[in-house]
Amino acid sequence: MKRGLVIAVDGPSGVGKTTISRLLAERLGFRHVNTGSMYRALALAADSAGVDLESDAALERFCATASVCCDASTEKISVNGKDYTPYVRTQRAGELASVASARAPVREFLLAVQRKAGEGGGVVMEGRDIGTVVFPDADLKVFLDASHKVRARRRHLELKGEFASGEVSAEMEERDRRDTGRRNAPLKMAEDALYVDTGLLSIDEVVRLILNDIRERLGIGDIRS
Ligand code: DC
Repeated sequence: MKRGLVIAVDGPSGVGKTTISRLLAERLGFRHVNTGSMYRALALAADSAGVDLESDAALERFCATASVCCDASTEKISVNGKDYTPYVRTQRAGELASVASARAPVREFLLAVQRKAGEGGGVVMEGRDIGTVVFPDADLKVFLDASHKVRARRRHLELKGEFASGEVSAEMEERDRRDTGRRNAPLKMAEDALYVDTGLLSIDEVVRLILNDIRERLGIGDIRS
């Protein structure tokens, strides 16, 4: 049986991945899966269980019995039955996720969760390695990017001024360094991805550009959920 389309959306933080992926999924009638939330929720759960996020052995033990549930329609995310939705967008969750996501046991565990979440297609999945590792055969790969300045400003606004802009900018730089420099599934653009600089366009323009690309490359008639 033919599966639905898989749209992979990758890129660093602050490029508008979530807003754009959500709108794309809405327009296509697809599910939206945010894999960043999975890393954030798992890192929070492991940290609150006292797991050392730099220890592969401790993380492996934690992941061996962990269960992650994400509801694509409500975007609720829970780990081991605890709802982490209210906490996943905090700065602390981002910092913990950046550390935990560099570790192989965490990536292996969530890779299986993500492939399962994308099963059957009809999905827009966002993250850092969706087009390169999770779904290297995705029907369309999009890489969103923007200058450091634009991204740091957006992130500062997203955190509602909770942190000074210089602090947000420095933290983002550190996270970029970890995301792109790690050995396991580093952030990089897939060779066959559509590159979009979101700093120069409005959200609507980006969504329109991607939908046009889907129509041209794949034929709108083939789109199914
Ligand atoms: O997109 P985000 O800020 O919610 O991601 C949180 C962290 O998780 C970030 O440091 C990168 C990491 N991540 C990853 O390594 N792979 C993914 N597919 C998604 C997120």
